[in-house]
Amino acid sequence: MHGADPRLVLGLHRSRHHRDILTAALDLGITTLDTAAPYLGFRSHAVLAETAADLLPKFTLSTKVGFFPSPGGAEHSLDPVRLRLAVERAARELGREPDTVLLHNPERSLAGLSHADGHALLGHACTALADAARDGLCRVWGVASWDTRSLGMVQVDDLPSPDVLMVRAGFLVGVDLLDATTALRAVWQAGETWGMSPFGGGHRKVWEEFDPRPFLRSPHDGLSRVQAAFRTAFHLPSAAAVAVGTDDPGHLAQLVEALGAEVDASAVSQYVRALHGHRQS
Ligand SMILES: NC(=O)c1ccc[n+]([C@@H]2O[C@H](COP(=O)([O-])OP(=O)(O)OC[C@H]3O[C@@H](n4cnc5c(N)ncnc54)[C@H](OP(=O)(O)O)[C@@H]3O)[C@@H](O)[C@H]2O)c1
Repeated sequence: MHGADPRLVLGLHRSRHHRDILTAALDLGITTLDTAAPYLGFRSHAVLAETAADLLPKFTLSTKVGFFPSPGGAEHSLDPVRLRLAVERAARELGREPDTVLLHNPERSLAGLSHADGHALLGHACTALADAARDGLCRVWGVASWDTRSLGMVQVDDLPSPDVLMVRAGFLVGVDLLDATTALRAVWQAGETWGMSPFGGGHRKVWEEFDPRPFLRSPHDGLSRVQAAFRTAFHLPSAAAVAVGTDDPGHLAQLVEALGAEVDASAVSQYVRALHGHRQS
């Protein structure tokens, strides 16, 4: 049994939602779970409640709203009334209030709108989640954005500031996206940044060709390339936590072990500078 470490968030996007990965997580001190209304074909909340009702109180739980079932599969909406109902539904399905509710990829409904319309739509959606937190339907609220470039097109500085901003993280994130996230964070003072998807959902072959271990302060202490990639993701961009997916308790144990490594922040800065230089050349 390990002490709890909130830096690793077990993400359920690709998960089979089997109980064994949840019990393994608790044994390893992983007590933060991230899901979303549409995961597992819109059944994630219900399946968690069915298979792990006794475990859920032991986790800090985040979920996301913004996608809704539709005849074509899923549709996105920032309608504040639908968002409010979705937060209420999440608590009902889970059998408990989630700790954090994130607006799920708001950029999906902002594409093609004028700046003024996008600003108003995003503002109403953020207010709906802030109100849900105020009313006790969740503890805090936030925004999860797959593409902060689109979100940056909307002026956000006078919108409610999210408690959590969840963004793509790690070596597979391009410099344009890293810059967009930096710019967004500069104007929208989120309480905490969480990284997500440090392996881009898989792509194991990348780590056969690229060794990120030199980004660790002690690169030869036995950690693998995958472990080094995960640990460095906390600095690309700087994040308090990173949501990562696995159905394999052994893989989860490796990720927990990687948390003990220290990243060479100056090497990461040099890498980002090199990416900028490469883009300009
Ligand atoms: N827009 C959004 O809001 C959004 C979008 C994407 C992701 N997310 C969040 O981020 C979480 C993670 O994203 P993700 O699952 O797409 O991508 P990910 O964490 O980058 O990649 C997951 C993949 O990495 C593999 N993996 C994990 N640990 C490993 C290890 N130690 N060794 C080898 N392979 C390993 C897993 O395979 P095994 O199962 O075999 O370990 C799985 O296939 C999601 O669950 C969700 O919480 C949010």
